[in-house]
Amino acid sequence: MRSLIDVVDLSVKELDELMGVANDIIRNPDKYKEACKGKKIATLFFEPSTRTRLSFEAAMLELGGSVIGFSSADSSSAAKGESMADTARVISCYADIIAMRTPQEGAALVAALNARVPIINAGDGGHKHPTQTLADLLTIKREKGRLDNLTVGYCGDLKYGRTVHSLIGALSRYKGIKTVLISPEELKVPSYVRHDILEKNGMEYEEVSDLEQALPKLDVLYMTRIQRERFLDPREYERLKDSYVLTAEKMEKAKKDGIVLHPLPRVNEISTDVDADPRACYFKQVECGKYMRMALIMKLLEEAEKDKSAVTIKGENLVYDKYKCHNPKCISRTEQELRNIATSSPSSPDILRCIYCEKKVN
Ligand code: CP
Repeated sequence: MRSLIDVVDLSVKELDELMGVANDIIRNPDKYKEACKGKKIATLFFEPSTRTRLSFEAAMLELGGSVIGFSSADSSSAAKGESMADTARVISCYADIIAMRTPQEGAALVAALNARVPIINAGDGGHKHPTQTLADLLTIKREKGRLDNLTVGYCGDLKYGRTVHSLIGALSRYKGIKTVLISPEELKVPSYVRHDILEKNGMEYEEVSDLEQALPKLDVLYMTRIQRERFLDPREYERLKDSYVLTAEKMEKAKKDGIVLHPLPRVNEISTDVDADPRACYFKQVECGKYMRMALIMKLLEEAEKDKSAVTIKGENLVYDKYKCHNPKCISRTEQELRNIATSSPSSPDILRCIYCEKKVN
Protein backbone atom coordinates (compact mmCIF):
# COMPACT_ATOMS: atom_id res chain seq x y z
CA MET A 1 0.00 0.00 0.00
CA ARG A 2 1.42 3.37 -0.98
CA SER A 3 0.89 6.46 1.17
CA LEU A 4 2.39 9.93 0.77
CA ILE A 5 4.06 11.08 3.98
CA ASP A 6 7.01 12.99 2.54
CA VAL A 7 7.40 14.32 -0.99
CA VAL A 8 10.65 12.35 -1.38
CA ASP A 9 8.50 9.18 -1.20
CA LEU A 10 7.89 10.05 -4.89
CA SER A 11 10.74 9.61 -7.37
CA VAL A 12 11.61 12.39 -9.82
CA LYS A 13 10.06 10.26 -12.57
CA GLU A 14 6.84 9.97 -10.58
CA LEU A 15 6.81 13.72 -9.92
CA ASP A 16 7.19 14.32 -13.67
CA GLU A 17 4.34 11.90 -14.36
CA LEU A 18 2.08 13.63 -11.81
CA MET A 19 2.86 17.02 -13.37
CA GLY A 20 2.10 15.55 -16.81
CA VAL A 21 -1.28 14.27 -15.61
CA ALA A 22 -2.06 17.61 -13.88
CA ASN A 23 -1.30 19.50 -17.08
CA ASP A 24 -3.52 17.09 -19.01
CA ILE A 25 -6.37 17.66 -16.50
CA ILE A 26 -5.96 21.43 -17.01
CA ARG A 27 -6.26 20.95 -20.79
CA ASN A 28 -8.97 18.22 -20.79
CA PRO A 29 -10.96 18.32 -17.53
CA ASP A 30 -13.89 16.37 -19.04
CA LYS A 31 -11.66 13.35 -19.61
CA TYR A 32 -11.30 12.91 -15.84
CA LYS A 33 -14.77 13.68 -14.58
CA GLU A 34 -15.61 10.03 -13.77
CA ALA A 35 -12.06 8.85 -12.99
CA CYS A 36 -12.89 8.22 -9.31
CA LYS A 37 -16.59 7.40 -9.61
CA GLY A 38 -17.68 5.32 -6.59
CA LYS A 39 -14.60 6.27 -4.54
CA LYS A 40 -14.57 8.28 -1.31
CA ILE A 41 -11.94 10.50 0.22
CA ALA A 42 -11.95 11.24 3.96
CA THR A 43 -10.46 14.62 4.87
CA LEU A 44 -9.41 14.50 8.53
CA PHE A 45 -8.33 18.00 9.53
CA PHE A 46 -7.33 18.29 13.18
CA GLU A 47 -5.94 21.77 12.37
CA PRO A 48 -7.41 24.73 10.45
CA SER A 49 -7.12 24.83 6.67
CA THR A 50 -8.74 26.60 3.73
CA ARG A 51 -6.76 25.59 0.64
CA THR A 52 -5.59 22.10 1.42
CA ARG A 53 -8.85 20.66 2.72
CA LEU A 54 -11.08 22.33 0.18
CA SER A 55 -8.75 21.56 -2.72
CA PHE A 56 -8.69 17.86 -1.77
CA GLU A 57 -12.47 17.91 -1.61
CA ALA A 58 -12.81 19.83 -4.89
CA ALA A 59 -10.27 17.46 -6.48
CA MET A 60 -12.25 14.34 -5.51
CA LEU A 61 -15.58 15.88 -6.56
CA GLU A 62 -14.14 16.89 -9.95
CA LEU A 63 -12.97 13.28 -10.39
CA GLY A 64 -16.54 12.07 -9.83
CA GLY A 65 -15.92 10.73 -6.32
CA SER A 66 -17.35 11.80 -2.98
CA VAL A 67 -16.11 13.27 0.27
CA ILE A 68 -16.51 12.68 4.03
CA GLY A 69 -14.55 14.16 6.91
CA PHE A 70 -14.18 16.76 9.64
CA SER A 71 -12.47 20.10 9.86
CA SER A 72 -11.45 20.34 13.52
CA ALA A 73 -10.18 18.05 16.25
CA ASP A 74 -13.08 19.14 18.49
CA SER A 75 -15.64 17.57 16.16
CA SER A 76 -13.92 14.17 16.12
CA SER A 77 -13.42 11.52 18.80
CA ALA A 78 -9.82 12.67 19.14
CA ALA A 79 -11.39 15.12 21.62
CA LYS A 80 -12.36 12.05 23.71
CA GLY A 81 -8.82 10.71 23.56
CA GLU A 82 -9.02 8.34 20.59
CA SER A 83 -5.54 7.53 19.27
CA MET A 84 -4.30 8.32 15.77
CA ALA A 85 -3.79 4.61 15.12
CA ASP A 86 -7.41 3.80 16.01
CA THR A 87 -8.70 6.79 14.03
CA ALA A 88 -6.88 5.51 10.95
CA ARG A 89 -8.19 1.95 11.45
CA VAL A 90 -11.75 3.23 11.81
CA ILE A 91 -11.76 5.62 8.84
CA SER A 92 -10.30 2.83 6.67
CA CYS A 93 -13.73 1.19 7.01
CA TYR A 94 -15.48 4.20 5.49
CA ALA A 95 -13.19 5.68 2.85
CA ASP A 96 -10.90 4.57 0.01
CA ILE A 97 -8.23 7.19 0.73
CA ILE A 98 -7.50 9.62 3.59
CA ALA A 99 -5.99 13.12 3.54
CA MET A 100 -5.08 14.31 7.03
CA ARG A 101 -3.64 17.33 8.80
CA THR A 102 -2.47 17.27 12.40
CA PRO A 103 -0.56 19.47 14.84
CA GLN A 104 1.53 16.44 15.91
CA GLU A 105 4.65 15.81 13.87
CA GLY A 106 4.81 12.29 12.50
CA ALA A 107 1.06 11.64 12.91
CA ALA A 108 0.53 10.85 9.21
CA LEU A 109 3.19 8.14 9.42
CA VAL A 110 1.46 6.59 12.44
CA ALA A 111 -1.84 6.67 10.52
CA ALA A 112 -0.23 5.06 7.46
CA LEU A 113 1.20 2.25 9.60
CA ASN A 114 -2.31 1.44 10.85
CA ALA A 115 -4.66 2.24 7.96
CA ARG A 116 -5.93 -0.15 5.29
CA VAL A 117 -6.15 2.65 2.71
CA PRO A 118 -3.59 5.19 1.43
CA ILE A 119 -2.83 8.14 3.71
CA ILE A 120 -1.88 11.53 2.34
CA ASN A 121 -0.04 13.83 4.73
CA ALA A 122 -1.75 17.20 4.36
CA GLY A 123 0.59 18.78 6.92
CA ASP A 124 1.96 17.38 10.20
CA GLY A 125 2.86 20.17 12.61
CA GLY A 126 6.02 21.99 11.60
CA HIS A 127 7.35 18.90 9.86
CA LYS A 128 6.21 18.21 6.26
CA HIS A 129 3.52 19.26 3.77
CA PRO A 130 4.14 17.20 0.64
CA THR A 131 1.06 18.11 -1.39
CA GLN A 132 1.84 21.82 -1.02
CA THR A 133 5.17 20.90 -2.57
CA LEU A 134 3.38 19.26 -5.49
CA ALA A 135 1.57 22.59 -6.03
CA ASP A 136 4.87 24.49 -5.74
CA LEU A 137 6.68 22.25 -8.23
CA LEU A 138 3.95 22.48 -10.86
CA THR A 139 3.84 26.27 -10.48
CA ILE A 140 7.61 26.61 -10.86
CA LYS A 141 7.62 24.24 -13.86
CA ARG A 142 4.79 26.11 -15.60
CA GLU A 143 6.21 29.57 -14.88
CA LYS A 144 9.95 28.94 -15.30
CA GLY A 145 9.81 26.00 -17.72
CA ARG A 146 12.20 23.92 -15.60
CA LEU A 147 12.95 22.58 -12.13
CA ASP A 148 16.74 22.57 -12.42
CA ASN A 149 19.37 25.33 -12.52
CA LEU A 150 17.41 27.73 -10.34
CA THR A 151 18.34 29.96 -7.44
CA VAL A 152 15.56 29.57 -4.90
CA GLY A 153 15.22 31.87 -1.87
CA TYR A 154 13.08 30.89 1.13
CA CYS A 155 12.14 33.79 3.36
CA GLY A 156 10.53 34.04 6.80
CA ASP A 157 9.79 31.21 9.21
CA LEU A 158 12.14 28.49 8.02
CA LYS A 159 12.08 26.72 11.39
CA TYR A 160 8.38 25.85 11.52
CA GLY A 161 7.63 26.32 7.79
CA ARG A 162 6.83 22.72 6.82
CA THR A 163 6.26 23.75 3.19
CA VAL A 164 9.85 24.99 3.06
CA HIS A 165 11.24 21.72 4.44
CA SER A 166 9.28 19.71 1.87
CA LEU A 167 10.21 21.93 -1.10
CA ILE A 168 13.93 21.94 -0.21
CA GLY A 169 13.73 18.12 -0.09
CA ALA A 170 11.99 17.88 -3.45
CA LEU A 171 14.37 20.27 -5.22
CA SER A 172 17.41 18.46 -3.77
CA ARG A 173 16.85 15.85 -6.51
CA TYR A 174 17.26 18.36 -9.34
CA LYS A 175 20.60 19.61 -10.72
CA GLY A 176 21.99 23.11 -10.25
CA ILE A 177 19.68 24.26 -7.45
CA LYS A 178 21.17 27.06 -5.34
CA THR A 179 19.37 27.69 -2.06
CA VAL A 180 19.26 30.99 -0.19
CA LEU A 181 17.78 30.73 3.31
CA ILE A 182 16.56 34.15 4.49
CA SER A 183 15.43 34.25 8.11
CA PRO A 184 16.10 35.72 11.53
CA GLU A 185 18.57 33.71 13.60
CA GLU A 186 15.73 32.27 15.71
CA LEU A 187 13.83 30.89 12.71
CA LYS A 188 16.58 29.14 10.77
CA VAL A 189 15.86 25.74 9.18
CA PRO A 190 16.03 22.70 11.53
CA SER A 191 19.37 20.92 11.61
CA TYR A 192 18.02 17.84 9.79
CA VAL A 193 17.19 20.02 6.75
CA ARG A 194 20.69 21.53 6.76
CA HIS A 195 22.58 18.26 7.33
CA ASP A 196 20.39 15.54 5.83
CA ILE A 197 19.10 17.38 2.79
CA LEU A 198 21.30 20.34 1.81
CA GLU A 199 24.70 19.04 2.90
CA LYS A 200 24.06 15.36 2.23
CA ASN A 201 23.12 16.18 -1.37
CA GLY A 202 26.07 18.57 -1.82
CA MET A 203 23.73 21.49 -2.52
CA GLU A 204 25.04 25.03 -2.67
CA TYR A 205 23.34 27.08 0.05
CA GLU A 206 23.74 30.20 2.14
CA GLU A 207 21.95 31.47 5.25
CA VAL A 208 21.35 35.23 5.34
CA SER A 209 19.04 37.64 7.14
CA ASP A 210 18.60 40.44 4.55
CA LEU A 211 15.82 39.92 1.98
CA GLU A 212 16.62 42.98 -0.13
CA GLN A 213 20.25 41.95 -0.56
CA ALA A 214 19.23 38.45 -1.65
CA LEU A 215 16.38 39.48 -4.00
CA PRO A 216 18.39 40.39 -7.16
CA LYS A 217 19.80 36.87 -7.54
CA LEU A 218 16.62 34.86 -7.03
CA ASP A 219 14.74 33.03 -9.78
CA VAL A 220 12.13 31.97 -7.22
CA LEU A 221 11.32 33.77 -3.98
CA TYR A 222 9.31 31.56 -1.61
CA MET A 223 7.79 33.79 1.06
CA THR A 224 6.34 32.27 4.24
CA ARG A 225 4.23 33.39 7.16
CA ILE A 226 5.69 33.56 10.67
CA GLN A 227 3.57 30.81 12.23
CA ARG A 228 2.06 32.11 15.45
CA GLU A 229 0.49 28.72 16.30
CA ARG A 230 3.89 26.97 16.47
CA PHE A 231 5.51 29.31 19.04
CA LEU A 232 5.67 28.06 22.61
CA ASP A 233 6.28 31.66 23.83
CA PRO A 234 3.81 34.27 22.38
CA ARG A 235 6.27 37.12 23.17
CA GLU A 236 8.77 35.52 20.82
CA TYR A 237 6.13 35.57 18.04
CA GLU A 238 5.36 39.27 18.69
CA ARG A 239 9.06 40.10 18.43
CA LEU A 240 9.56 38.24 15.14
CA LYS A 241 6.22 38.53 13.34
CA ASP A 242 7.11 41.51 11.12
CA SER A 243 10.62 40.38 10.24
CA TYR A 244 9.94 40.53 6.48
CA VAL A 245 7.38 42.39 4.38
CA LEU A 246 7.68 42.16 0.60
CA THR A 247 6.37 45.33 -1.10
CA ALA A 248 6.03 46.56 -4.70
CA GLU A 249 8.93 48.90 -4.00
CA LYS A 250 11.18 46.01 -2.91
CA MET A 251 10.12 44.05 -6.00
CA GLU A 252 12.00 46.64 -8.10
CA LYS A 253 15.17 44.88 -6.93
CA ALA A 254 13.94 41.42 -8.06
CA LYS A 255 14.81 39.76 -11.37
CA LYS A 256 12.53 40.72 -14.27
CA ASP A 257 11.73 37.03 -14.80
CA GLY A 258 11.84 36.01 -11.13
CA ILE A 259 8.66 34.67 -9.54
CA VAL A 260 7.18 35.04 -6.07
CA LEU A 261 5.48 32.07 -4.42
CA HIS A 262 3.76 31.76 -1.04
CA PRO A 263 1.88 28.69 0.23
CA LEU A 264 -0.70 31.08 1.80
CA PRO A 265 -2.37 32.14 3.99
CA ARG A 266 -0.42 35.38 4.12
CA VAL A 267 -0.73 37.72 7.06
CA ASN A 268 1.28 40.80 6.15
CA GLU A 269 4.52 39.38 4.73
CA ILE A 270 3.45 40.20 1.16
CA SER A 271 1.85 43.59 0.75
CA THR A 272 -1.25 43.54 -1.48
CA ASP A 273 0.45 46.04 -3.80
CA VAL A 274 2.57 43.08 -5.03
CA ASP A 275 -0.51 41.14 -6.22
CA ALA A 276 -0.81 42.97 -9.55
CA ASP A 277 2.84 42.25 -10.42
CA PRO A 278 2.93 39.49 -13.10
CA ARG A 279 5.73 37.84 -11.11
CA ALA A 280 3.35 37.26 -8.18
CA CYS A 281 2.30 33.62 -8.73
CA TYR A 282 0.77 32.67 -5.38
CA PHE A 283 -2.81 32.50 -6.60
CA LYS A 284 -1.76 30.42 -9.63
CA GLN A 285 -0.03 28.17 -7.08
CA VAL A 286 -3.40 27.59 -5.34
CA GLU A 287 -4.92 26.39 -8.62
CA CYS A 288 -1.97 24.13 -9.37
CA GLY A 289 -2.54 22.53 -5.95
CA LYS A 290 -5.96 21.23 -6.91
CA TYR A 291 -4.75 19.69 -10.17
CA MET A 292 -1.76 18.01 -8.53
CA ARG A 293 -4.02 16.61 -5.79
CA MET A 294 -6.33 15.22 -8.49
CA ALA A 295 -3.36 13.51 -10.14
CA LEU A 296 -2.12 12.18 -6.78
CA ILE A 297 -5.51 10.79 -5.70
CA MET A 298 -5.80 8.90 -9.00
CA LYS A 299 -2.28 7.51 -8.69
CA LEU A 300 -2.61 6.32 -5.08
CA LEU A 301 -6.03 4.75 -5.67
CA GLU A 302 -4.76 2.95 -8.76
CA GLU A 303 -1.74 1.62 -6.86
CA ALA A 304 -3.89 0.59 -3.87
CA GLU A 305 -5.94 -1.64 -6.21
CA LYS A 306 -2.76 -3.55 -7.06
CA ASP A 307 -0.97 -3.60 -3.70
CA LYS A 308 -2.92 -3.90 -0.46
CA SER A 309 0.05 -4.86 1.75
CA ALA A 310 0.56 -2.91 4.98
CA VAL A 311 2.94 0.06 5.17
CA THR A 312 6.07 -0.82 7.16
CA ILE A 313 8.73 1.30 8.86
CA LYS A 314 11.63 2.11 6.56
CA GLY A 315 15.05 3.31 7.65
CA GLU A 316 18.56 2.13 8.35
CA ASN A 317 19.86 0.96 11.73
CA LEU A 318 16.51 1.12 13.47
CA VAL A 319 16.88 1.41 17.25
CA TYR A 320 13.78 0.44 19.24
CA ASP A 321 12.85 1.96 22.64
CA LYS A 322 16.38 3.03 23.61
CA TYR A 323 15.77 6.77 23.12
CA LYS A 324 12.70 8.88 23.81
CA CYS A 325 11.96 11.79 21.46
CA HIS A 326 12.12 15.14 23.30
CA ASN A 327 10.22 17.15 20.68
CA PRO A 328 7.03 18.23 22.52
CA LYS A 329 5.17 18.25 19.18
CA CYS A 330 6.13 14.71 18.18
CA ILE A 331 3.29 12.18 17.91
CA SER A 332 5.38 9.80 20.05
CA ARG A 333 4.77 12.11 23.04
CA THR A 334 1.00 11.78 22.96
CA GLU A 335 0.15 8.51 21.22
CA GLN A 336 -0.31 5.69 23.75
CA GLU A 337 1.64 2.49 23.17
CA LEU A 338 3.68 3.89 20.30
CA ARG A 339 7.19 2.49 20.27
CA ASN A 340 10.06 4.98 20.33
CA ILE A 341 12.09 4.25 17.21
CA ALA A 342 15.19 6.08 16.02
CA THR A 343 17.23 5.78 12.84
CA SER A 344 20.51 7.11 11.48
CA SER A 345 21.52 7.96 7.93
CA PRO A 346 24.65 6.51 6.28
CA SER A 347 26.12 10.04 5.97
CA SER A 348 25.70 10.73 9.73
CA PRO A 349 25.79 7.30 11.42
CA ASP A 350 26.31 8.82 14.88
CA ILE A 351 23.18 10.96 14.78
CA LEU A 352 19.97 9.16 15.65
CA ARG A 353 16.69 10.76 14.70
CA CYS A 354 13.13 9.97 15.73
CA ILE A 355 11.46 8.19 12.80
CA TYR A 356 8.24 10.18 13.29
CA CYS A 357 9.39 13.81 13.52
CA GLU A 358 13.08 13.45 12.45
CA LYS A 359 14.38 15.42 15.43
CA LYS A 360 17.66 14.26 17.03
CA VAL A 361 17.19 11.90 19.96
CA ASN A 362 20.81 11.36 21.11
N1 CP B 1 -1.09 26.28 2.04
C1 CP B 1 -1.88 25.72 2.96
O1 CP B 1 -1.58 24.66 3.51
O2 CP B 1 -3.03 26.42 3.20
P1 CP B 1 -4.15 25.98 4.24
O3 CP B 1 -3.53 26.04 5.61
O4 CP B 1 -5.27 26.97 4.07
O5 CP B 1 -4.56 24.59 3.89
